[in-house]
Parts: sequence; C-alpha cells; structure tokens
Amino acid sequence: MTIQVTVPDVGEAGEVEVIEVLVAVGDIVAKDDSLVVLESDKASMEIPSPYAGKVVNIAVKEGDSVEEGSLIVELDVEGESESESESEAKAKAEAADKTQENDRPAPSEPKEPIAATAPSKAVEEQAAEVSSSETIDQLVVVPDVGDAGEVTVTELLVKLGDVVEADDSILVLESDKASMEIPSPFGGEVIEILVEDGAVVTEGDPLVKLRTTQRTQQKTSPQTPTHQAVKGAAAEPVVEEKNLTPVVETSSPQSPSQESVGEVANEKIHAGPAVRKQAREYGVNLSQVTGTGQKDRVLKEDVQAFIKAQLKTREGSAAGQVPAGGGIPPIPSIDFSKFGEIELRPLSRVRRSSARNLHRSWLNVAHVTQFDEADITDLEVFRKSQNLELASAGDKLTPLAFLIKACVHALIKYPQFNSSIDVDYEYLTLKKYYNIGIAVETPDGLVVPVVRDADKKGVVELARESAKLAGQARDKKLPLDAMQGATFTISSLGGIGGTAFTPIVNAPEVAILGVSRASMGPVWDGQAFAPRMLLPLSLSYDHRAIDGAEAARFANYLTQVLGDVRRLIL
Ligand code: COA
Repeated sequence: MTIQVTVPDVGEAGEVEVIEVLVAVGDIVAKDDSLVVLESDKASMEIPSPYAGKVVNIAVKEGDSVEEGSLIVELDVEGESESESESEAKAKAEAADKTQENDRPAPSEPKEPIAATAPSKAVEEQAAEVSSSETIDQLVVVPDVGDAGEVTVTELLVKLGDVVEADDSILVLESDKASMEIPSPFGGEVIEILVEDGAVVTEGDPLVKLRTTQRTQQKTSPQTPTHQAVKGAAAEPVVEEKNLTPVVETSSPQSPSQESVGEVANEKIHAGPAVRKQAREYGVNLSQVTGTGQKDRVLKEDVQAFIKAQLKTREGSAAGQVPAGGGIPPIPSIDFSKFGEIELRPLSRVRRSSARNLHRSWLNVAHVTQFDEADITDLEVFRKSQNLELASAGDKLTPLAFLIKACVHALIKYPQFNSSIDVDYEYLTLKKYYNIGIAVETPDGLVVPVVRDADKKGVVELARESAKLAGQARDKKLPLDAMQGATFTISSLGGIGGTAFTPIVNAPEVAILGVSRASMGPVWDGQAFAPRMLLPLSLSYDHRAIDGAEAARFANYLTQVLGDVRRLIL
C-alpha cells in the first residue's frame, strides 16, 4: 500500500522551508530514517519516515516552502492489508474520527491513504504505538580522581546551550600530576555550568547540568489526543527543573527536537542535524566550513569539501609547501640529550594553564602593538609627595595605580577597548563595567588577578587593592573569583626594566597595556631639550575589534592623562 508522509505540526512557524531532501525515488528506507530536513526561522528538523518502505514519489524539492499537511513523499509500504479483518479497519476509522473530534488530527498521522485503504495489522500497531519523551535534568559530577583529592578546573569545553553526546569531553580537570578530560556520561543539552575555570573541586562535586530527553515506547489507544502535547514540544522551550511533563509524540514525523533547537539557537550556524552529526563524526568544526546551501547553510557536500581541502593542505605541507589557514606545522620533538646534559623541569599548574591561554590568544587574536611615551615628570613629583604623606598609613603609590586610573578613563572614552568580539564577527559586546586585570609575576608563573569596578575607586584605593592582589597571588592565596571578569589588562614590567615589549592580548579581552621602565630623556620643548621622565607604553590590541587609528588615539589619550593627572578629575 502507498503511504503519504506529510509535514507535521510545525508549531508557530507556519511555513517552513525544505532545505535538504535526503532520499531519492526508489530508495528503500527503514522506519525513522530521515526523509527531508525542514527549517523555520528558529529551528531545523529532520522528518523521519514513519514506516519502512520504498520511496515511490518525492513531492518536494530543496527550497520549497511547505506547511503542516503538505505532502512530502509517498512510500510503498509492504503490508498485510488483505488479511486484515473488517473490524480492525473499522476500529481504525473510528479512532481517526474520534481523534478529529477531540482535536485536529495528530500532526504526523498519515493522511488519506490510511483511512481509505485498510491498513495492515502491523501498520495499525505502529500507528497505535507512541513514544513518550521525558525530559530529565541530570548532573555530571567529578568522578573518582584517585589520590589527587582536590583537582582544578583548567578548561571548560562546553558552554550553555551546547548539545553533547555521551563521551563528549565537557571539561578538563588537573591535579598536580595529571590533567584529564572529563567525558559526559550521557548526552543532553548543557543547561547549567556549575563551575568556572580555576575552581577547585573534589570527587562528587557537581560540574554541569544536562537536560536529557528519554524516549520510552508505549502502546496507547488510537484515541489518545496527542496533538497538544506535540505542539507544546515543538513551540515551547522546556523551563522546569525536573521530570517535565512527558511529551507524547506519534511515531510518525516528529517535532523539532530540543537538540536541533538548542544547536541552532546557540551556534548560529545553519546546518541540519545530519550535517552536524557528520561534522561531529569527522571532528570538523562547522564554524570553519563555508556553507553553499540557501542562507549559507552548510551541506554534507560542504563538510566533505572541507575535509578534502584539509587533507590537501596536509599533503602540501608534507611536501614542503606553505600550509594555508590553520595548518600549523608542529615543532619537531627532539631528544636534546643527544647534544648535552639536560634536566626535565615539570611545569607548574599555573604555567601550564597560562601557556594554554597564551597560545590560544596568540593564535586567535589579530595582534598589533602601538607604542607611545608618556611624560610622567609631574606625575612622579606628585606621586612621591603623596607617598611621604601616605607612608604613615602604610600605603604606597607606585605608577601602577595611576595607570589603572588613566586606563579606566581611556576605556570610558574609547569603549571598544572594553569589549569582546563575537566569534562570528557580528557584534562587539561593550562592557559597562571596568575590571582591570593586573599581570603579576609569581614563582609559579604569571597570574592575572582583577581589580573590580576600578572606575569607582580612587588612586589610593587602587594602589592598596592591586598591592593586596599581587601579594595574594604570590602567596597563592588568591580567591578563585579574583581572576575572573577582567575587561582590560595591564602588564607592568616597569619595576624590572625594558624599553618596550609586545604583550599578548588576554582574549576574549581586546586590548592590553604593556608598561616598561620610565627613564629620563631629552624632550624638545620648542626651544631646547629638557630632561623629562618618560614612561614607555605598549598597547597591544585585537585588530579584528579595533582600528589602528583608534589605538593611536587611545594611547595618545593615555599619555595626555598621565602627563597631567589633573585630567583625571575632569
Ligand atoms: N618605571 C619606573 N619605575 C617603576 C615603574 C615604571 N614603569 N613601575 C614601577 N616602578 C617602580 C616602583 O615605583 C617601585 O619603586 P620603589 O620601590 O622605588 O617605589 C618599583 O619599581 C617596584 O614596583 P613594583 O613592586 O613592581 O610595583 P608595581 O605596582 O609597579 O607593580 C606588579 C606591581 C604586580 C605589576 C609587579 O610587581 C609585577 O609583578 N610585574 C610583573 C608583571 C609581568 O610579569 N608581566 C609580564 C606579562 S607578559
């Protein structure tokens, strides 16, 4: 018998677009094999075949707009219609009538042919079988970490809204001896991240909360009014915490799953679930693939082309050609002991973590460094006079506190320096708070504690707080949250020396100010050279977010403010 598969209830979307036809006439499909991919503004959904059978007609093509009830394909389904008793056919017809009385027909219920042709027993059982999906929130906790006891979260590999599969790595934990990627014990959508980078955790501590959808097949009477539940699942995000209302779906074409909604909403990459699955299987990052489908949608062929290009690049690099894009040739691993005595010094946790962060920033940020010099002669006179007064209270002003204050003023004037760039280059996130990271050298490596709300603090308070944070960093007593939330960073090597350097932007921040040692130098005052105290500034910025002219203005403004600190009170 021939079954018509139609577009199911698509919630509020109304019209949806056919963006991929996954079968051809003559194909034999199994039950639940995907037939086509539909896409609304908000989600894409694969339409699975309600029955096993042979595709005898395809009524749509890519780019077609369809709505609930539109014919998608016709399937030749092997059945036992001849052997079915009249009473069974009648029961089916009555059930269909009743369903229509109660509600509209179940969205995915095959249309006329089933009512017109007596369905086989097997088909009727299928029609009467429903699957119920239960949404459950589950915690992923720290597993047994052996002797380590306490471990540190060094890298979060997922973000809110990500859909992970069982065994996908969700974060990296590190003990003194080892680092381990923690796989998710089950698949689901990340709805809560309960730890932050740098958090210290022990066995059993919750890490992330996943929302999983569990399907259970159950028999139901054909009259079961299923429409509302399906509609709810398609249109409304799940908002409750536990054991949400079971969503009942017929076993024919289903509503967009939470997975596809989540992925589309969070990744902004147009690609169907089948393509996403393919990308996952081959380890392809979809954001790097150029989509050639409608609205730049990534198609299976695009993923294949991307993989081919990557392979070619590798072949090229093996043949000594310059690789394109991300094909970074690895540094060879050499046995240095062949050339002389060596010592293996294990890297501290801090150093390993900062190495990873710096590498990531170095590879991602389009670095440019703008150099300038501030005349801090008057500032130094003022600072030293203040220090005489402050000494009795145990306070001391170094140039750093003035630099923080001056930077905050510059950030307020040039807000793009206090921003982060969207990964898809669609917008800048301008932050209306001013948290200044201070690079601090410690025996274990570089750490960057944060002076929060620096715009609301005076120079003495900034001096006090930065000195306290630097002390805590060196004594390894920094509270965990002290290293988070910076919007701009200052790296001051002025106490040590140097005339200039090129600091690495602490991404996702977009700029960092490097400060070298101030020294006396000749400055032409229009008539003669005068000895002035000059402070070298090196402003590295992410050229993706900031133009060179803006960087020159920002640096110039800093020199003006530092040159005459009275400007700070304006
Ligand atoms: N030019 C001249 N002298 C400077 C100066 C500058 N730019 N900056 C500081 N000094 C002086 C200070 O006034 C102080 O002098 P004093 O003792 O005679 O008063 C001396 O150098 C030491 O200052 P310091 O203790 O370093 O204080 P600070 O407030 O300037 O800096 C830190 C604090 C935390 C930034 C600093 O100690 C530090 O760790 N710097 C290293 C940062 C780093 O490693 N960056 C590299 C990242 S890539």
